Amino acid sequence: MSRAALYDQVGTPDVLSVAEVPDPEPGPQEVVVRVHAAGLNPYDAKVRSGFLTLDAPFPRRIGSDLAGTVEAVGEDAHYWDGTPIEVGDEVLGRGAGSIAERCVAQAAGLARRPAGLPVEVAGGLNIAGLTAVSCLATIPIGAGDTVLVGGAAGAVGLVAAQLARDAGATVIGTASASKHEFLRSLGVEPVEYGDGLAARAAAVGTVTAVIDCHGRDALDAGVALGVSPDRMVAIAAYAALREIPAHNVERAARTAENLAALAQDIADGRIVFPVAQTFPLEDVAAAFEALDSPHAPGKIVVVS
Ligand SMILES: NC(=O)c1ccc[n+]([C@@H]2O[C@H](COP(=O)([O-])OP(=O)(O)OC[C@H]3O[C@@H](n4cnc5c(N)ncnc54)[C@H](OP(=O)(O)O)[C@@H]3O)[C@@H](O)[C@H]2O)c1
Repeated sequence: MSRAALYDQVGTPDVLSVAEVPDPEPGPQEVVVRVHAAGLNPYDAKVRSGFLTLDAPFPRRIGSDLAGTVEAVGEDAHYWDGTPIEVGDEVLGRGAGSIAERCVAQAAGLARRPAGLPVEVAGGLNIAGLTAVSCLATIPIGAGDTVLVGGAAGAVGLVAAQLARDAGATVIGTASASKHEFLRSLGVEPVEYGDGLAARAAAVGTVTAVIDCHGRDALDAGVALGVSPDRMVAIAAYAALREIPAHNVERAARTAENLAALAQDIADGRIVFPVAQTFPLEDVAAAFEALDSPHAPGKIVVVS
C-alpha cells in the first residue's frame, strides 16, 4: 500500500485528502513510478472544482505531472528513442493520478531526467513545458517577429516567452508588476495586462504574433493591432476562440522527445523554470489553495 491524494466529490481544495491505496501494477507499455515530485496544474484545479466536468467515478485521484524513480516495468516499455525503460531510471513526464507516492505512467509519456535537473523542477514541467512547445509548433516564431505573450510569468507563458526569445523574436510579456523585473532579466519586455494593453504593446514594437497563455486580453490586443488570426494561438481563452479565428493550441508536439529536449535546456540553464513553492503530500489541500489564489506564486509542486 502507499499514499495518494484522493477526492470523492468536486469542490474547494478541502475535498482533497490523502489515503492508503493498493500499489499499482504496470500493464503493457507502462511503468510504475515512485513519485518524488508532482506539479499542480490549473487543469487539475478546474476538474477538482467542477468547472470542467469529467466522466470518471469517485473517489478520483489527481495530478498528471511527475518526476520520480521507475519501480516496476511492464512488457515492452521503452522510451521514445526505443531504448528500454529500466527499474531505477530517473524519469519525468506524465502519469495517472501523480499526486501520490506511486502511480502508473505510460512509457510514451516519459523522458529520462537529465543530470543536473532538480527533481522538483522536473516534476512540474510536463504539461506547462509541452504546452509552451506546442504553442510555438502551432504558430512558428522566428527572427523578425515581435510576439505578445499573455500571462508570461505563468508556467506555460514563461517557457513560451523564452522559446520565442531563443527563436530570435522580440518578446513582450504581460504580467503583474511584481514579476516585471524577473521577466526583464530573461530578455522579455514586461507590460501590465488589462485595459490599454494594445497601446502598451504597440509602444514596445509592431506585434506580429500573439501567444495567449491566460485569458483573452492578449488575443483582443492582437485583433486591435491588426495581427492576423493565423498568427495568434491561445491555450485558455475558450470563449474568445468562438469569436476570433485564432488557433487553439495543437497537441501534436506533446511528445516525450520534446519533453526530453526541454528538460535538457533547463538543466543546462538555457531556459529558466523556477518552482515557487513545494508542499508535502499530506498538505495537498493547502497546495491547491495556493494554486487557486488569483495570483498564484508560480509553479507549485507536491513532494513525497
Ligand atoms: N489548452 C491547454 O492544453 C492548456 C495547457 C496548460 C494550461 N492551460 C491553461 O492555461 C492557463 C495558464 O496555465 P499555467 O499553468 O501557465 O498557469 P499559472 O502558472 O498559474 O499562470 C497563470 C498566469 O496568469 C496570469 N494572470 C492572472 N490574471 C491575469 C490577467 N487578468 N491577464 C493576464 N494574465 C493573468 C498570472 O500572472 P501574474 O502572477 O503576473 O498576475 C499567472 O502568472 C490556465 O488557464 C490553464 O488551465 C491550457
